[in-house]
Amino acid sequence: MKNTKALKQSPLSIAESLCDYWSPRVIDQFEDCYIKVAKLKGSLTWHSHEFEDEVFFILKGYLELELKDEVIHLETGDSFVISAGVEHNPVAKEECLVMLIEKKATLHTGNISHPQSKSIEAQLKPIVNRTTESFCSIPSNVKLNIKIADAKN
Ligand code: NI
Repeated sequence: MKNTKALKQSPLSIAESLCDYWSPRVIDQFEDCYIKVAKLKGSLTWHSHEFEDEVFFILKGYLELELKDEVIHLETGDSFVISAGVEHNPVAKEECLVMLIEKKATLHTGNISHPQSKSIEAQLKPIVNRTTESFCSIPSNVKLNIKIADAKN
């Protein structure tokens, strides 16, 4: 279906507005993929996605992607594709803002259940404009164009 409500967005601004670490949020979609942003600090957990590749794009900061036999060092502007089935653990020694491109079916921590694992429903929650909390407010010109019903597959 043609997306007639597409709007320009600033993934960096939205990522900066997030309050919680390791809580990716969907900001857009295309075909069977979601575009997400997340604010990272510390370590997630070792996991893999059996059937889906996962794209990391660093919006701001520095991220170490630990793989079993090497560590990928990513800086602002860098991207990396983790192939399906490859075990990985993202580590952010300082706060890092990322954009993720994932299939809609991709689970946050693969088949690992972890205290930091976020459901797709949580990732689809609208990013609230908290006008009274400027440090987590989303710019007023940023409008989200997400329909929960589209997340079913
Ligand atoms: Ni992953």
